[in-house]
Amino acid sequence: MSDDFDFSDSASQAKDGDGDYDMQSVVSSQASSSGSTVPSIYSFNSTRDGMALLRHVEGRIFNAQNDMYFLPADDTEYARLEKGYLLQLVDLGHLYIEHENVQRILAPEPGKTKRILDMGSGSGNWVVGMGTEFPHAEVIGIDLAPSGSWGEPPPNCRFEYDDLNLGLAHFYNSCDIVNTHSTSGGIKDYGWYINEAAKCGMLLLAEGHTELLNSRKELQEMAFGEGNPGESWLARTLFEFYNATKRRGSSADARTKLYELAKRCPLLSNVGGRIDYYPVGPWERGRNSEETRRKEIVGILLRQSFTELLQSIKPIFFSQGYDAPLVQQFVDGSEREMNELNLHMYARCYRAWGTRNSIPLESLESDAKQIPTTGDCGQGVDDQ
Ligand SMILES: C[S@@+](CC[C@H](N)C(=O)[O-])C[C@H]1O[C@@H](n2cnc3c(N)ncnc32)[C@H](O)[C@@H]1O
Repeated sequence: MSDDFDFSDSASQAKDGDGDYDMQSVVSSQASSSGSTVPSIYSFNSTRDGMALLRHVEGRIFNAQNDMYFLPADDTEYARLEKGYLLQLVDLGHLYIEHENVQRILAPEPGKTKRILDMGSGSGNWVVGMGTEFPHAEVIGIDLAPSGSWGEPPPNCRFEYDDLNLGLAHFYNSCDIVNTHSTSGGIKDYGWYINEAAKCGMLLLAEGHTELLNSRKELQEMAFGEGNPGESWLARTLFEFYNATKRRGSSADARTKLYELAKRCPLLSNVGGRIDYYPVGPWERGRNSEETRRKEIVGILLRQSFTELLQSIKPIFFSQGYDAPLVQQFVDGSEREMNELNLHMYARCYRAWGTRNSIPLESLESDAKQIPTTGDCGQGVDDQ
C-alpha cells in the first residue's frame, strides 16, 4: 500500500467511573532519570494539580495547555487513536518504518541504555508497544494531556506532559529514536519542530492526510449544498476540519511536506519519504486473498477511526461558528457514505525519516540561518 521515494517514574493513572482522572503519580523527567542536565518544563503531580492539565468543552475532555490543538483527550478519542495504531501494525507489520535500521540502532549494547522518545504520544499505545518490544530501552512519551488508557505501564516506559512547542532541550543528544505521528495540529512551526526532534536522535515522522482521493488516486470531489452523486461529505468534512485547524494557528499544512522539511534539516542525513494509501472501508481487493483480507482490515479500521473522528471534531466546528445543522449534515452524510460504500476512497499517510548526522548542535546554534522553518518548501513528495 505504499509508494517509496528516493529520496519517575512511571505514569500510573486510573480513571474513575465518573470520567474524572485519578492521577496517582505522573512525574516528568528529571535530570536523574533521563540522564539529561535540563529538567522537564513541567512536572505533573495529581494531588497538587488535579484536573489542571484538562478541561471540559461540549461534553468532551480537552488538554488545557495548548489552545491550538483542539481534539479531545478522553477515552473516546483514545479509542479512535487505537484504530490508527492497529492500522499501522496491520499495514507495516511493525510499529515503525525503517524497521531494520531501527532494530539495529536499538539493539542492546553493554553499558548503554537505549532511549526512545514519542512526541505527541496520545493514548500511549506506541510507547508501551515499543517498551514491550525493546525491554532494555527506556521509552518516554510526551503529550499535552495524560491518557487514561494505561493503568501501570511497563517499568521502562514513562510519560511527560509538556507543550512540544516549548522545545526539547532536556532531550538533546540523548535519544536513539524519536517518533512523532499526527501531531501537526498542535505544532506552530513544523520545520522548527523537525529540527528540534533531530537534535535528540534519529527521526521517524508520520502524518495522516486530510485530503481524500478517489479510487484512481485523484483528488476526491467534495459535496456542497445538497450534494451530488460522486461527491463526498467525508471529503468536505475533512477539508473543513483542516481549515479550522489551520485557523487555530497550527502547521497542519506541513502534513504533505514531511520529506521536504526533513531534507532541509541540517542535522539529518539519509532522509527518505513514502506515501501510503489506505482504503476508507473494506472495498479494495488485493492480488490474493491474504492481501485482500489485510486491505479489508485496514479499511474497516480506517472507517471506524473516521466515524469516531466525526464526533471528536464537532467542538472545533462549533468553536469557529459553524451552524449545528451544517455540522450534522457533515456527520450524517459522511456516515452514510462510509456505510454504503458507494464511493471508493483512499486516505493518504505521509511518512519521512532521517538519521542524525555528526554536525554538533553548537555549530548550528551559532548559525541561526540554517534552522529551517515550515515556510515554502515545495509541493510534497508525491509531486516530485
Ligand atoms: C492525533 S493525536 C496522535 C497521537 C499518537 N501519536 C498516535 O498516532 O496515535 C495527536 C497527539 O499529539 C498531542 N499533541 C499535539 N500537539 C502537541 C504539543 N504541542 N505538545 C505535546 N503534545 C501535542 C495531542 O495531545 C495528541 O495526543
